[in-house]
Amino acid sequence: MADGVLWEHQFSLPCAVELADDQGVGLPCRGTKDYGAIMELNQMGGLNLGHTLADFVCFCDFFRGHEAFVPVGGGARANLADNAPYAFTDGFDGSIFNPANDWLEFPGRSIHQKAAQEQNKGGQVQHLQYHRSAMCDPSPVGGRRCVLCFRRVQMSYFRSTVEEMAGYVPGEQPAVANIVKLNTNENPYPPSPDVLAILQKNKWFLNRYPDPSARLVREAAAEVVGGEPDEILVGNGSDDILTILIRACVDQGDVVACLEPSYSLYPVLAQIQGSCLQRIPVEEDFSLPKFRPDLVGRASLVVLTSPNAPIGASLDHERIAEWCREFDGLVVVDEAYADFADVNATGLVRTHLNCVVTRTLSKAYSLAGIRLGYAYAAASVIRQLAKVKDSYNVNAITQALAVAALRDQKTLAENVGRVRETRERLTQSLRELGFAVLKSDANFLFVKPPFEALEYCAGLRDAAIIVRHFPGFITGAFVRISIGTDAEIDRLIEVSESILKERHGA
Ligand SMILES: Cc1ncc(COP(=O)(O)O)c(C=O)c1O
Repeated sequence: MADGVLWEHQFSLPCAVELADDQGVGLPCRGTKDYGAIMELNQMGGLNLGHTLADFVCFCDFFRGHEAFVPVGGGARANLADNAPYAFTDGFDGSIFNPANDWLEFPGRSIHQKAAQEQNKGGQVQHLQYHRSAMCDPSPVGGRRCVLCFRRVQMSYFRSTVEEMAGYVPGEQPAVANIVKLNTNENPYPPSPDVLAILQKNKWFLNRYPDPSARLVREAAAEVVGGEPDEILVGNGSDDILTILIRACVDQGDVVACLEPSYSLYPVLAQIQGSCLQRIPVEEDFSLPKFRPDLVGRASLVVLTSPNAPIGASLDHERIAEWCREFDGLVVVDEAYADFADVNATGLVRTHLNCVVTRTLSKAYSLAGIRLGYAYAAASVIRQLAKVKDSYNVNAITQALAVAALRDQKTLAENVGRVRETRERLTQSLRELGFAVLKSDANFLFVKPPFEALEYCAGLRDAAIIVRHFPGFITGAFVRISIGTDAEIDRLIEVSESILKERHGA
C-alpha cells in the first residue's frame, strides 16, 4: 500500500474462515452467528462479501501481539470473487513496525507466497505496508483467525493500478568495479570509433531542442532495414517505443498479449496502461505456437519477441507471418537481439500493414548508455504512433551518435561476429560440463545447470560474476548469461568448473 493512504477498520468477521491448512487453499467457510449470511467463500476460493463495502480485506491468522494482515486489493470492491487479488500471511514473521511513521511493513518473504500465488492467479505479493490505524483494537475474536475489513479513508494520490503494481525491476547495475557483468545483455566491446570521434569533435548546441522527428536517425535506420525514413519512429530506447505502441493502441481494460516466457517489461507496461495481459505460452520446445484465436482472446496488440528473451532462439519466420495474417491488431515483433541472428522480420513490414518491428542500439551496437531504439512499420502506422511520443523524446547527443553507429555497419558486423563466436564456444563448454544450453540467436545463453539454478548464481556471485535468474515455472531452473569478452567467458567457465568440482567433492 502506498504512502498517503489511510485505512480505517470497518468491521471484523470473527472466525468466519477456516483458513484450511498451510497451503491456504481449499477454504471451507464456517459461517458465524453474526456474519455468516454475508460471508461466503465459493469453491474457486473467491470471497464474496455480499453487500459489504470494503476497500481491502485481511485474513488475520495467528496474533503475536499484533494482527497480521493481508489485503485484497485496493478500490472499493463489494464482491471479491474469482479474480480479486488477495493473499494470506501466516504470521508476523519478518514484519517491521516503524514507530516513526506508524507503518508496518511486511517484506515479501513473510507472505505466504504459495497461497498468495494460487489465490492471486499467479500474482506476487512483494511488499506490503499497513498503517497503524489499520491495526484495529484487539480483535473481538481473541487472537485467532478472523477477517478484517477496511475502508480507505484518505484518497491515494495515485491510480489504484499504479499503487498495486510492483513496477519493473531492471537488471542489477553494480557500482563497483572488477565485476564480470553478464546479467543485462550489453555488448562487452566498444561502439563504433566514429561514435567516440563525434562525441569529442562536435560542438554541441545544448541550449537548443533536438530535432523532434530525429530525421537523420530515421534516414540512417531506414537504410539499415531497407525501408523509408517515414516508416521509422525513433525512441528513447526500444522500451520507449514499446510504451508508445501500448499507449497508442491499448485502452484501459483492453488486452495486450505477449509470449510466456518473454521480456518482463511487457506486463508492466500493460499494467501501467490499466490493461490486462494475455500470456501466450510458448510450445514445449519454446517455439511460437500456431495462431489460434483463443491464444489472443480480445487482445488489441500482440508482442512477439524474436529472438525471444530470455530463451534466445528466433521465432519461426513463417509462423510470425501467419500471426500477422490472422491477427486483427498490430503484431509487434520485438527484435532487440535480431542483429545477432540470421533471420529477421523486416520483410513482413513490407507485406503486412499490421506488422511493427522494433530495434535497439543497446545490444549489437554497444550503445545501451545512449538510449536509442526505433520502430519500423508502414508510414500510416508510424504517423499514428508519432502523435503519442513525447515531442523531444530523443536528445541531441544521442541522435548524433546513433547516426554514426547506424552508418558504421562494418564495426557492427565485427562486434556481432565476435559475440557469436564466443556464444558458440560457451555453448560447447557448458554442454561439456553437463549444462543444458538452449539454442541462441542472441547475445546471451539460457542455460540449465545440472543442479539448482539459484545455487549456480550464488556460486558465480561469490566469484564476482553476475548473471540473471528469472523465477517462474518454466524459467526458474535456468540462468541467463550475457556473452562477455573472451576473457570474461573464460573466467565464467573456470568458475563453473570449480563450482561443479566442489559439489562433487562435497
Ligand atoms: C526483448 C527486449 N526488448 C527490448 C529491450 C529494451 O531495449 P532498450 O535498451 O532499447 O530499451 C530489451 C532489453 O533488455 C529486451 O530484452
